[in-house]
Amino acid sequence: MELLRDVVVFVHICGFAVTFGAWVAEAAARRFQVSRVMDYGLVVSLVTGLALAAPWPAGIVLNYPKIGTKLVILVVLGGLLGMGSARQKRTGEAVPRGLFYAVGALSLAAAGIAVIW
Ligand code: HEM
Repeated sequence: MELLRDVVVFVHICGFAVTFGAWVAEAAARRFQVSRVMDYGLVVSLVTGLALAAPWPAGIVLNYPKIGTKLVILVVLGGLLGMGSARQKRTGEAVPRGLFYAVGALSLAAAGIAVIW
């Protein structure tokens, strides 16, 4: 059971890597667009995060304020990505720079909170 939990944490971290990696790739290419890959990473983070939010194996102590904070961040991120992709489809242009940087900052903040809190 402990090994299974470690595997789920690993996949959870991969979800972050996919979202943040896609964001870094957009920034490095100076396209400043949101992408489906960011959505996919977020879905992986959400599904695995919810699985990890259950107290298994027995006896494990979870930091629910921290988990709740990350859930709020993830919902906000989902909203920003949704708004951004709708806007991109409508205008055919990159999203506003503030929205783009907010996606990267929130994604990084969630990982920082996960590790440091
Ligand atoms: C963008 C969103 C998220 C990011 C970047 C993220 C990142 C991480 C990282 C890096 C870890 C490993 C930390 C460690 O083991 O020291 C972790 C663990 C964990 N995450 Fe997330 N996470 C996110 C969203 C969520 C959500 C939405 C939930 C639940 C609703 C969640 C629940 C957990 C749980 C339960 C753990 C296990 C370790 C712990 O209790 O801290 N995460 N997360």
